[in-house]
Amino acid sequence: MAGIELNISCPNVGKGGLQFAIDRDAARAVTAAVRRATDLPLLVKLSPNVADVRPIAKAIEEAGADAITAINTLSGLAVSADRTRAFLGNTYGGLSGPAIKPVALRIVYEVAQVVSIPIVAIGGVTTLDDVLDFLACGAVAVQVGTAIFADPELPVRLGDELRAECLRRGLSSYGPLIGTALPKRTGAASAKGAEYRP
Ligand SMILES: Cc1cc2nc3c(=O)[nH]c(=O)nc-3n(C[C@H](O)[C@H](O)[C@H](O)COP(=O)(O)O)c2cc1C
Repeated sequence: MAGIELNISCPNVGKGGLQFAIDRDAARAVTAAVRRATDLPLLVKLSPNVADVRPIAKAIEEAGADAITAINTLSGLAVSADRTRAFLGNTYGGLSGPAIKPVALRIVYEVAQVVSIPIVAIGGVTTLDDVLDFLACGAVAVQVGTAIFADPELPVRLGDELRAECLRRGLSSYGPLIGTALPKRTGAASAKGAEYRP
């Protein structure tokens, strides 16, 4: 089925170059505008480059998104060989791949505790263990980004491996693997229990 994944980590010219994804009100407004424009399934993709992503995720949910994708790249910088300037033409670049998996896991874990819409995880996935970790933290599906450049067939293989893992565990679907690492909660979705941040 076709859908739209809204990458909101791009500059908002009207607000002086601010990224929609780092401002709760801008994230809410752009999600609502796209929601009004389409009935297609709408996924909105979070940026990790904020102190607390949870209010932004909640605003996106309230604005009508069908799902959240987490995460986009982490903002990074490289220095030129002669150390006279930033190396990249755009000064900053996006850090991706296995190094960002713990950050992506933390964000999926946090967001899963404050929204009711599904979370699609991405960030450093290269193995079945990565997929299982993201499912355990509350993702209902997992994407592969950087690793595809080295191995374009990886997503298909990971799907096969996940199916085999479910069979091995006597499961007819991977549903029971979702959210097993989340704190057990008795009431409605809430940020309680996710307050600790190192
Ligand atoms: C070369 C490259 C291009 C990317 N382009 C986009 C893009 O156009 N839109 C987007 O939402 N994310 C883009 N991303 C971010 C990835 O979709 C993904 O969120 C991020 O890289 C983390 O996942 P990974 O570690 O599996 O790559 C890009 C990443 C890379 C490495």
